[in-house]
Amino acid sequence: MTQFRNHGLSRFDFPTRVVGIVGPNGSGKTTVLDALHFISVGKGLTAATDLAYLMDGEDFFRLECVAQQEGVEKKIVIKYRKGKGKVLEVDDSRLTKLVEHVGSFPVVSMIPQDIDLILSGSRERRRVMDLTFSQIDREYFESLVHYRKLMRQRNAFLKKALKTGVVNWELLKTYDRRIKPHADIIYAARNEYCGELLRHFKFFYSDISGGSEKVEFTYLSQLHDAAYGDLSVRFSEKDRVMGRSHGGIHKDDLDFTLLNRKLRDVASQGQLKSTVLALKLASHKLIRNRTGIDPAFLLDDLFDRLDMDRASNFLHTVKEHTTGQIFITDTNLERLTGAISSMNEKFSIFSIRKGRVDDMIDEQKTR
Ligand SMILES: Nc1ncnc2c1ncn2[C@@H]1O[C@H](COP(=O)(O)OP(=O)(O)OP(=O)(O)O)[C@@H](O)[C@H]1O
Ligand SMILES: [Mg+2]
Repeated sequence: MTQFRNHGLSRFDFPTRVVGIVGPNGSGKTTVLDALHFISVGKGLTAATDLAYLMDGEDFFRLECVAQQEGVEKKIVIKYRKGKGKVLEVDDSRLTKLVEHVGSFPVVSMIPQDIDLILSGSRERRRVMDLTFSQIDREYFESLVHYRKLMRQRNAFLKKALKTGVVNWELLKTYDRRIKPHADIIYAARNEYCGELLRHFKFFYSDISGGSEKVEFTYLSQLHDAAYGDLSVRFSEKDRVMGRSHGGIHKDDLDFTLLNRKLRDVASQGQLKSTVLALKLASHKLIRNRTGIDPAFLLDDLFDRLDMDRASNFLHTVKEHTTGQIFITDTNLERLTGAISSMNEKFSIFSIRKGRVDDMIDEQKTR
């Protein structure tokens, strides 16, 4: 990691299945997970823009990773230059599209905010769908990129029309004709993948909760009862008055229920947490089933919002059901070592201080 947030120059070897990263607040632990996420899906885990990762006062950052899968090594490099954007290289050749790489080294992550997933706005739940489904389906990922770009243009157009008071309906139709095929692809994929995701979710939820409660989710979409073209007609007046687009897959959601009542209204804190953990495990399982690759787990501040029992049980479930690498950050060395060593897997723990590796505790244990 070069000039990536507070990491001026950091180098890691991750030789073990379980990797702990420990250090005080602000030392640069999450930044390591951000870097791994970047290498995997081309963007950071926590910040919305690439620029946010550029070390203050510098004009480029660079991430270089040699990753291994079933004995085959790949070198992945991400170069970011201020004002110029990012370039991705795999084995020294430059990829023109991110889609050629996404899914090769899949990840599933959990950050403390994810615990509020059920109570958050629908955007967060779409984010889970998009990150998961993009890693198993290139067409989905590409359509999502096009859809977002076209929707931005459509919204800018509506906003401008709102100011001038004149709508060029023909031009709006041109946008919609271009948007429709992407909306259709995303809708069909979400329908299909949500079905499988739900099956895995039910399995893991019952595993985590002991099988007593019945939590489920349904995929909600305006496209269930109207094609994209009809939606844009239906919402045309509202779009004009509000100056933005009201119909489309950007309004989709996952509706969680407990015995047919809205989960957000009836669930206990514990049930809300179990739901999120089960959803993460389900995403992992879906990616593995569809790609044949076991994603890495990035678990940021796992003990921050979860009590020790829940976090440990989760780690054990992750261990039992996956074979990929597991990265866990924490501020407390004793707590982290305790939780990790009880997993009975080879592990290493890196201690970080001010964007530097301070110490490597290599207490490797064999099964
Ligand atoms: N663009 C930047 N340039 C330099 N430093 C930055 C930049 N962005 C963030 N930082 C700093 O980098 C540090 C690393 O943040 P990070 O989120 O990785 O810390 P952390 O160890 O996960 O902390 P916590 O335990 O609080 O979650 C923070 O001190 C943050 O203020
Ligand atoms: Mg952090």
